Amino acid sequence: MTANKKLLVLPGDGIGPEVMDEVERVVEWLDAKRRVTFSVERALVGGSAYDAEGTPLTDATMAKAQGADAVLLGAVGGPKWEKLPFEHRPERGLLRLRKEMALFANLRPAQVFEPLVDASSLKPDLVRGLDIMILRELTGGVYFGEPRGIETLPNGEKRGFNTQSYTTSEIERVARVGFELARKRSNKLCSVEKANVMESGVLWREVVQALGDKDYPDVELSHMYADNCAMQLVRAPKQFDVIVTDNLFGDILSDCAAMLTGSLGMLPSASLGAADESGRRKALYEPVHGSAPDIAGKGLANPLATLMSFAMMLRYSFDMDEDAALIEDAVEKLLAKGVRTADIRLEGRAPVSTQEMGKALIAELETLA
Ligand code: NAI
Ligand code: MG
Repeated sequence: MTANKKLLVLPGDGIGPEVMDEVERVVEWLDAKRRVTFSVERALVGGSAYDAEGTPLTDATMAKAQGADAVLLGAVGGPKWEKLPFEHRPERGLLRLRKEMALFANLRPAQVFEPLVDASSLKPDLVRGLDIMILRELTGGVYFGEPRGIETLPNGEKRGFNTQSYTTSEIERVARVGFELARKRSNKLCSVEKANVMESGVLWREVVQALGDKDYPDVELSHMYADNCAMQLVRAPKQFDVIVTDNLFGDILSDCAAMLTGSLGMLPSASLGAADESGRRKALYEPVHGSAPDIAGKGLANPLATLMSFAMMLRYSFDMDEDAALIEDAVEKLLAKGVRTADIRLEGRAPVSTQEMGKALIAELETLA
């Protein structure tokens, strides 16, 4: 029996708890079937935490997140809490988690499942078999750089300004995650900036290249300007394996890459922090979608984005690559059979509910394992 993995589950608001129930079925199934045990603890985050505990994230929950081997989150927010003052708003809970766990590396895969190849905004041939990873730096760059503000100039005109800023160590730590990811995948890393017009980009390129030469000579490293990268993502996305880029370009390019797969209900993500002495990183896994208040409580939500986030956890926090692949395989088989929630329904077939999807998954896992 391998060591006990401490998992903190934060279902959150809206469809969060519904999709998380189905993912927890799979956690329990793995627990029963495989050679690993999870100790799962649940806590509140977001609006539901505010309602029950007076704050979107209590200190006790924060401490549990810091002590866990990994955190799995559903989604936060909804119309009920939109009028609250800023510090009580549901997203403050999520922001606090990201900040205090110092999650600087945001992983956004764009993977096209064959049965959903027609959901892409691109022609099937361009995206068939697509499996790329966008790695976005999450705690630095122009969203945080100083000075920033809006000032009034002597002539009465106003000026808004922000600062793009990256230090050597900030670039190096996210690039290191990029090289490690590439080694786990197809061994190709493309670093993206605009070194042609930005000094921070010049430094970015230098630091990534030097790290590659020194520690990762086996990884095929290339560099690309961000505007060209945007073009290439929609022209020939399969040329990429892992893309590493800054906070701003990563925000845009990861959303662009996500739409190559066409379906919000299928998109997972991971956010990683610094490695400790044993090489383990703080980690938060969550779907890209929000709390979907328009369909909450109706059993319509697609649980697969959260499930795929859990599969990422198995791969990137626990080195359980085989189990992650097993889950992905089960998902692909279900989709091929036409077992789909409403957001990805097949024409001429009735969609399944959130719960039916969860149950079908367990049945599929049983036949595969
Ligand atoms: P959203 O992602 O919640 O929903 C957008 C559309 O996609 C809706 O029509 C929804 O029904 C659909 N959808 C989303 N996830 C789905 C799923 N798993 N299965 C089937 N359909 C799905 O984004 P929206 O509407 O902009 O935001 C709603 C609330 O969620 C807001 O309060 C927002 O602040 C919050 N939000 C939270 C995020 C988080 O917790 N990380 C991220 C984005 C939004
Ligand atoms: Mg965005």
